[in-house]
Amino acid sequence: MRILIIGSGGREHALAWAIAASPLTDKLYCAPGNAGIAEEATCVALAPEDQDAIVRFCRRERIDFVVVGPEAPLVAGLVDRLEEAGIKAFGPSAKAAELEGSKGFMKDLCAKYKIPTAAYRRFTQAEAARAYVRETGAPIVVKADGLAAGKGVVVASTVEEAEEAVGAMLSERRFGEAGAAVVIEECLTGEEASFFALVDGRTALPLASAQDHKRVGEGDTGPNTGGMGAYSPAPFIGEAMALRVMAEIIRPTVAAMAAEGREFKGVLFAGLMIDEAGPKLLEFNVRFGDPETQVLVARLMSDLLPALIAARDGVLDHVHLRWHEHAALTVVMAANGYPGDYAKGTEIKGVERAKALAGVHVFHAGTARSADGRLLATGGRVLGVTGTGDTLAQARTRAYDAVDLIDWPDGFCRRDIGWRALKAAP
Ligand code: AMP
Ligand code: GLY
Repeated sequence: MRILIIGSGGREHALAWAIAASPLTDKLYCAPGNAGIAEEATCVALAPEDQDAIVRFCRRERIDFVVVGPEAPLVAGLVDRLEEAGIKAFGPSAKAAELEGSKGFMKDLCAKYKIPTAAYRRFTQAEAARAYVRETGAPIVVKADGLAAGKGVVVASTVEEAEEAVGAMLSERRFGEAGAAVVIEECLTGEEASFFALVDGRTALPLASAQDHKRVGEGDTGPNTGGMGAYSPAPFIGEAMALRVMAEIIRPTVAAMAAEGREFKGVLFAGLMIDEAGPKLLEFNVRFGDPETQVLVARLMSDLLPALIAARDGVLDHVHLRWHEHAALTVVMAANGYPGDYAKGTEIKGVERAKALAGVHVFHAGTARSADGRLLATGGRVLGVTGTGDTLAQARTRAYDAVDLIDWPDGFCRRDIGWRALKAAP
């Protein structure tokens, strides 16, 4: 088959690495890709938002199947556009991607179908939102309704902080149209966890457990990022909890979306808060996690590609995925300054040495090759250094041994990825 992957991050490198290994793959393209993906696929300079150019490319290259990595093109309707053109594609339609594209839509759906989540109200007027914040008190959570690259959530510990967030979103439009409406919700406490399932419209197939670290600083402190590291398995979701999440959150959502005429296909990624009462939904994403995908593919024994095709074709009930028993852990190396401003074009050395270690994969995110073949950092998150091991501790040792071989003075990483899980089950 001739496959095209859309995206350019660590997630897409992990997908490319898995799909390139499939015996079904004759030819693999990635648009736009990065320097690591270029070792697995032919990179083509197409922007994920340029739907016309993508359709033209698929026709010209006789692409059989497109895998869309990031949320923005899904919310913008790339899968609808491809399917209308007769090109099979993995991922939700625009109507189904609203689960991530509009937090208000997601909350209303949960309310209608009794899916457990934080109590909430929706607002478009700053005065009414501020009054609600004062009436409810802190802590309280303010969320921009639309996509804001992971920056549109403020967990406010005081009423002043929450009122400020309302002002920034609704009055100053700091997130543009994404912040033209907000959701204000109850602050939940407990253990945070992620849950991933492949969905074909009716059937949901859970993937192995994985957990990321969202904060930039060690001990899970400081500003939120896209994710500074991840590990799998995640000990906070055992077998019993996974069954509850499937029964109480994932399957009811898949059924609700079908009932609403918004049949969901693709990856349903639930961000959860778990307490004594059980799991509650914090948010849905409609795509694979980044960097969670890096640890998932490092543990996947089965061929990923037929499972993605089965999700698109609506025959996921025939698929069984096998996972290696071993653990995997990814350390993200990011440009100094991330998630704030950072320099671009700095040189990275030593990746080849790091990759040569046993049980190590280095997935690229924001990288490019210079004309003379040097590896340059071009984004905030730049590498996902991944170790596998019999235990999480061994996976971590391998990942950090590899990190220590990478010579990049302009980058940094957290040294404590996996600490919660290692404390729970070293
Ligand atoms: P999100 O971008 O929706 O994943 O939110 C970013 C982070 O904000 C989450 O990973 C949680 O740590 C936190 N968060 C979101 N919603 C809530 C909530 N209702 N209660 C407590 N923390 C939350
Ligand atoms: N790592 C979290 C995400 O992909 O949104």
